[in-house]
Amino acid sequence: MYGMVNRALKDLISERFGEATWQEIRTKAGVEVDEFTSMSTYDDAITYDLAGAASEVLETPIEDLLRVFGQYWVEFAGKSSYAILLEQAGTTMGEVLGALDDMHTRLALSFPELRPPSFRVLSDDGETIMLNYESFRPALVPFVCGLIEGVADRLDVRVTVTHVEAKNEDNPADVLRVQVSSK
Ligand code: HEM
Repeated sequence: MYGMVNRALKDLISERFGEATWQEIRTKAGVEVDEFTSMSTYDDAITYDLAGAASEVLETPIEDLLRVFGQYWVEFAGKSSYAILLEQAGTTMGEVLGALDDMHTRLALSFPELRPPSFRVLSDDGETIMLNYESFRPALVPFVCGLIEGVADRLDVRVTVTHVEAKNEDNPADVLRVQVSSK
């Protein structure tokens, strides 16, 4: 994945737990790089190993950690030069979730080797959104849940995200239900 992702993970851990904890996690993960270049690609294994080591060192289930990372990513991206894309994606949960593929397609102009996920809004009645999430990468549903919560924070609404169906031989997408209410 692009270095921007590993950078964000490093920032999250260093901000919340200190630089020494980050170094402990990086060493445990066997990752030699400390300064990630946002626009370079790194083996996905680096990101997964860092998340796994963080889970052990912080004694936190990896799913919880990925969720927090998802929330953090939206804040992180919202402060980056790509914030405009989040702003233009829409003003409601349904609009933003429906615009994610276009957004990642536009991002691919800056990140030519991007291997983005794909999202499809199946239905949206303003309160409940059914969403397909497709990726060739495994085990990132908790990250997606956190991302959606991060988007909700930006839009100042409350969401409950439920993973209703895991991808399987018949359906290559994970199905999520997003219940939206006002704060
Ligand atoms: C301006 C905001 C955003 C930027 C700059 C951004 C950029 C990126 C980048 C660079 C990657 C790594 C992919 C790769 O290196 O191949 C990525 C992955 C991903 N993005 Fe975004 N993204 C943004 C917002 C979002 C939002 C709001 C969501 C969902 C609500 C989302 C969902 C994901 C997911 C799930 C992945 C993990 C890859 C996978 O599932 O295969 N992104 N994004």
